[in-house]
Amino acid sequence: MRRPIIAGNWKMNNTINEAVELVNGLKRELDNINSVDIVVSPPFTALSDVNELTMDSNIKLSAQNVYWEEKGAFTGEVSTAMLKDAGCAYVIVGHSERRQYFNETNEAVNKRLKAALAGGLKVIVCVGEVLEERESGKAFDVIKDHVQGSLQGLSKLDMNNVILAYEPVWAIGTGKTASPEQAQEIHQYIRGLLKDIFDEETAAEIRIQYGGSVKPDNIKELMQKEDVDGALVGGASLNIDSFSAIVKGAI
Ligand code: 13P
Repeated sequence: MRRPIIAGNWKMNNTINEAVELVNGLKRELDNINSVDIVVSPPFTALSDVNELTMDSNIKLSAQNVYWEEKGAFTGEVSTAMLKDAGCAYVIVGHSERRQYFNETNEAVNKRLKAALAGGLKVIVCVGEVLEERESGKAFDVIKDHVQGSLQGLSKLDMNNVILAYEPVWAIGTGKTASPEQAQEIHQYIRGLLKDIFDEETAAEIRIQYGGSVKPDNIKELMQKEDVDGALVGGASLNIDSFSAIVKGAI
């Protein structure tokens, strides 16, 4: 009932030429897929060029971050309207790399999320614990804090355009995937939190992606878990064959 969603987060990778080559390959491979939402998230510099190629395809465009103000003296930031202008339908907020390296708080994630929704973007909101938190038994507390803090003040209606991504930080770029059981345990917990914040129906409809060393050979077992509705893919999304295989593995 929940449509799978596979998103490639390219992070700070790919020049315009590299981005174009990758997307042309993905279009060839994924042309006939219509049962999975496919999203790519290039760096800001490649958005417009990628949009030229994806606008009439089944691949949707996402940015990796957005600022909450509409315009003005905010050097280095990009607004929702600018992202829409470049062709984006989605944006990622609250990625652990933003939280870790750029001191992003739940409050900032919440402001970005609200601005993006108000401007008509769909938003992938990332949550996840670091290794130390998992090892000290705090994973659930951290997830609760991220989910409640990031979604503060949102309505049930807003949630139609929100996708959550559980990305355990210890599994990102490490080759160390959470086991399907570990992923399911947290996804189920997140859905329970959504039920408490909103209601059962809303919680049942929201898609929760898993992210962290997703590869063609582990996507199937992850997707078999009841509350895993897709993947947010880093490294393996930079290659035509591996990202295509992940999308196909999610059907
Ligand atoms: P990897 O797939 O490279 O582990 O990255 C996951 C991620 O951070 C996606 O946003």
